[in-house]
Amino acid sequence: MAYDETSQQKRLAARLIGVGGALPKQVVTNDELAARLDTSDEWIRTRTGIRQRHLVSGDEGAVSLARDAAKRALENAGKTAADVEAIIVATSTPDQVFPSVAVRVQAALGMERGFGFDVSAACSGFVYALSMADSLIRSGQAASVLVIGVEVFSRLLDWEDRSTCVLFGDGAGAVLLEKGAGEGEGILSTHLHSDGRLGDLLYVDGAVGCCSGKVALKMQGREVFRHAVVNLAAAVDEALETNGLKGSDIQWMVPHQANLRIIDGMAKKLALPSDRVVVTVDRHANTSAASIPLALAEAVEDGRIKKGDLVLMEALGGGLTWGSALVRM
Ligand code: COA
Repeated sequence: MAYDETSQQKRLAARLIGVGGALPKQVVTNDELAARLDTSDEWIRTRTGIRQRHLVSGDEGAVSLARDAAKRALENAGKTAADVEAIIVATSTPDQVFPSVAVRVQAALGMERGFGFDVSAACSGFVYALSMADSLIRSGQAASVLVIGVEVFSRLLDWEDRSTCVLFGDGAGAVLLEKGAGEGEGILSTHLHSDGRLGDLLYVDGAVGCCSGKVALKMQGREVFRHAVVNLAAAVDEALETNGLKGSDIQWMVPHQANLRIIDGMAKKLALPSDRVVVTVDRHANTSAASIPLALAEAVEDGRIKKGDLVLMEALGGGLTWGSALVRM
């Protein structure tokens, strides 16, 4: 939704004050996958733009990656864990069924107050979590919220299924939101959508107590691609229209990083030159709920995205779920 703000709501609007990312140490290239699977660097690169991915090893997991990304976001904001009142983690790959990754991170950061919970919306998870955090701040329930996207998709993949395992990677990204955005600053709008009728296009069986077969991600790639192009285009139009903006007003697109062809299509729709689109899919592959905050962290840390820039984020994933967020940094 977008906001018809009263002065009370304006006072509580959320601004984004810090970002951070964390990637597993181990890098696996396309050629390394091709050495044990009937695929090739050429096939993966031309279909998806992916050249490599980071995968967890040793004691790395969802909580440790989320904690590291959160620490960087706090550092980047010049804040400490004592300043945080809530943590929302978007993930489909928690280390445990419960407690949530969010409360494990709360403990790992040494927080002694506040609350945390996880959000499950697959690759759209970060946009969903950002929207929830914005609502918590606007409603006065929390003055500062850490929003984290973290995934260890390597746990969900059938490493013998070349049509899916080459597409994903592991990682985490985090942002810190705080109340008190100035006029036209911070989270300007979020829009969320889902269509459960399309749930079987992209899913993972394996909930506790059912589906005794192997836990593995299944995807009808072509169909997902088709829905991504249509739904993301509609989501971008919706975000622009709600805010009375044109494509040319957007300074940066930080899209979900699933496939370079989908990203290029969205950039073309907005008439955005490629140097205004943050791309990490080549190095990170699809890190699901982590991909947007990881990409944002990279572009803020290397100085591309600056304070005052207008940033459009969009994502689509299993559910199907999709949505957008428009943020003035
Ligand atoms: N290496 C080599 N060949 C492969 C392969 C791989 N890793 N994976 C599939 N193939 C083969 C298929 O078996 C098929 O062969 P066939 O024609 O002999 O049957 C051929 O390549 C084409 O497969 P197809 O699935 O139709 O390819 P595609 O052009 O649709 O590309 C995706 C596949 C997955 C890259 C593409 O559909 C896609 O990106 N979809 C969207 C995925 C997405 O965004 N998902 C996440 C949303 S969060």
